[in-house]
Amino acid sequence: MQATAIAHPNIAFVKYWGKRNIDRNVPAAGSVSMTLDGLETRTSVEFSEALAADSLQLDGEPVGSGETLQRVESFLDLVRRRAGIERAAQVETRNNFPTAGGLASSASGFAALARAATEAAGVDLNERELSALARRGSGSAARSVFGGFVRMEVGEEGEGAAGFQIAEADYWDLRCLIAETAEGPKRVGSTEGMLHTERTSPYYDAWIDSVGPDVDDAVSAIRDRNFGALAEVAERSCLRMHAAAMGSDPGLLYWNGTTVELIHRVRAAREGGVDAFFSIDAGPHVKIFCEPSDEADTVSLVEGVDGVNDVRVVGPGDGARLVE
Ligand code: DP6
Repeated sequence: MQATAIAHPNIAFVKYWGKRNIDRNVPAAGSVSMTLDGLETRTSVEFSEALAADSLQLDGEPVGSGETLQRVESFLDLVRRRAGIERAAQVETRNNFPTAGGLASSASGFAALARAATEAAGVDLNERELSALARRGSGSAARSVFGGFVRMEVGEEGEGAAGFQIAEADYWDLRCLIAETAEGPKRVGSTEGMLHTERTSPYYDAWIDSVGPDVDDAVSAIRDRNFGALAEVAERSCLRMHAAAMGSDPGLLYWNGTTVELIHRVRAAREGGVDAFFSIDAGPHVKIFCEPSDEADTVSLVEGVDGVNDVRVVGPGDGARLVE
């Protein structure tokens, strides 16, 4: 009863920021993303009668308590219930990128855990069911189950909310430059941040109302490989999500000075003919998308900028999969 899986993080063009149902972790609206190559989480799960309790190792360090362990245990409970087993599990997970630094480790983490734990427990799910299960761990993980370009669908009732692949990774060779502008874990996690926004921001409802049309626009832009159209909708969605969060009480500001500097640089470069657009999640790091022909210009945009600690360029990646 042992299995290992790999999954990649994803970056949303149309953001998920708000929940319809907290217990079942159903998003309040859809979202659209690209799964990323290069960054990866590798997770092994073993269910065994010899274990007294669940255990978790993250990047080689035992995690003995706290929210992360609790989230993993609750997730394992869902898998155990489906499998009809009671055995405890040993989970070992490694990221080749900083954990909880706003680089979407919960997306790749729960996608890999869902794939490995269901295999180890002998639960047979199709991709959509696996995605809906991964969603229970983290909303964005539902998208990382699939490779390439992915749409998260919520539906009328929301119960079956799951990812849906728009196109495979090789459909469109977009590049994503990730500029890290801070070190250490993010100060307010996404779950807490979105709940705070829903409770206290007068802009929350307007934000949620804006997501549906943006999802449609982003899906069309991807199907048509229309970079300009994707740039427009992605920056709009990112800024509206952050505007809703900033309008909370007290306001939630994930950006630092370098984040703002990079936004301006991307926009100035676009006016100068470089096809690039930015996206920012619940942290200060900036992701800049471009096509291969604009990669060198895009990299030079962030080079030498004060506060940029690390830069990496990745492309579209595959979905969560088992490995030996
Ligand atoms: C800003 O998937 O981390 O990255 O479901 O509470 O685990 P939970 O939230 P999470 O939120 C992701 C928020 C985001 C936008 C996005 O990826 O769509």
